[in-house]
Amino acid sequence: AQPQRIETDSMTLTRFVLAEQKKVPHATGELTQLLNALLTALKAVSSAVRRGGIAKLHGIAGLTNIQGEDQHKIDVLANKLFINMLKSSFTTCLMVSEENENVIEVETEKQGKYVVCFDPLDGSSNIDCLVSIGSIFCIYKKISEGEIGVQDALQPGRNIVAAGYALYGSATMVMLSIGQGVNGFMLDPSIGEFVLTERNVRIKPRGKYYSINEGYSQYWEKGVMDYVNNKKYPKEGCNAYNARYIGSMVADVHRTIMYGGIFIYPANKKSPNGKLRLLYECNPMAYIVEQAGGIATTGTKPVLDVVPENIHQRCPIALGSPEDVNEYLECVKKV
Ligand code: AHM
Ligand code: MG
Repeated sequence: AQPQRIETDSMTLTRFVLAEQKKVPHATGELTQLLNALLTALKAVSSAVRRGGIAKLHGIAGLTNIQGEDQHKIDVLANKLFINMLKSSFTTCLMVSEENENVIEVETEKQGKYVVCFDPLDGSSNIDCLVSIGSIFCIYKKISEGEIGVQDALQPGRNIVAAGYALYGSATMVMLSIGQGVNGFMLDPSIGEFVLTERNVRIKPRGKYYSINEGYSQYWEKGVMDYVNNKKYPKEGCNAYNARYIGSMVADVHRTIMYGGIFIYPANKKSPNGKLRLLYECNPMAYIVEQAGGIATTGTKPVLDVVPENIHQRCPIALGSPEDVNEYLECVKKV
């Protein structure tokens, strides 16, 4: 029998980040150190997700977060992992987590220059039925000269230094951008490392899928309804689009990036700003999508141009293939 081939020179995520940072003159290595800490958290979350049912992590923790939603045990665990890994990396001064009402300040001796916003475990409704879930993050440099404060977290997405997400799907994958395109890394469980598998990911100009929660269609604005109807009942000679909606933003966005198409969580009459959070859901995803050659819009402007007013604010979003998103914009502008 052939001996199993073992890669002896793999491009791990750590190695990739190190090599990228070497290209930046005067880089101190602090971002590399931060990403390393974050990767450890992602591996631990992945392992917890995989062992969830056995380790009895499923179900709710009996706590509610500020949105009044039940916190799952694994949400709490993922949040602790993110916070502890980042604090102890000496690279971060401020954090914003979906699970914490206020910004989290790192003690002075451990502070570095970065601000990190994250949703440690997104897609909670999918945890207990084993459907894909994910983690989302983005990184800024602090802007305050002296004392740090909430203003350091209220930067527009345009200022992002790096962003990414981990998808705990049929495999675990990290998609990362540090401003030079998007690269994808698959977790190889046999060595516990993320290995580069998708180099310089580019989104298709147009896709075949639309992704939106149609359960809310009675609350949609007319433009959204028109757009979706065009996808379902296209003009003669055009094919209808396929519907896909998982209800985990990471999974829905990842499919949109890999296969093309559009993902929409619009404003509706019940939720005037949609559901998804600007700082740790919309902005990181918008950054990745733009870095892959796609568009991410609120319906009136690029998501990355929104100036945040509070850390948990919501933002309507449509993102994906440029032709699809532009067509959506035509529809919503008409009304
Ligand atoms: P969560 O932060 O409570 O997990 O909610 C966020 C999730 C996203 O992953 C997903 O895109 C969206 O909620 C789905 O919401 P809905 O069930 O309203 O379609
Ligand atoms: Mg979330």
